[in-house]
Amino acid sequence: MALANWRDEYSVNILEIDNQHKKLFAYINEIHDAMKTNRAKEELGTIISKLAAYTVDHFKTEEKYFERYHYPDTANHKYEHQVFVDKVHGFQEDFKKGKLLLSLEIINFLRDWLINHIKGTDKKYSAFLNEKGIR
Ligand SMILES: [Fe+2]
Repeated sequence: MALANWRDEYSVNILEIDNQHKKLFAYINEIHDAMKTNRAKEELGTIISKLAAYTVDHFKTEEKYFERYHYPDTANHKYEHQVFVDKVHGFQEDFKKGKLLLSLEIINFLRDWLINHIKGTDKKYSAFLNEKGIR
């Protein structure tokens, strides 16, 4: 079984966003697989970069809806995104410089952050955006 599995209970009831969340889980699994099979550093670096870039794009999608519909929790939600992006960029930099060995601890951190963020913070916009016709 993969390390990070998207489940129906993580759905925010917006197809575009659910699909992006699934893709984030897939990237985390890809990093895990690359680590387990001792793939070359460059290869691992490429996947980390892809995850970082995709995360930024994904957050932009959510934030675009928040701004468009004046979502009340925008500031707090964007702050959580920023903290996570900074963290991922930090991992990416340290990895590039050889200061970081990718460990299960880091991969678990990424997975747990994602799951907790979806279940806690993302779920809060679900009904609000659904009401605006976003599904
Ligand atoms: Fe979010």
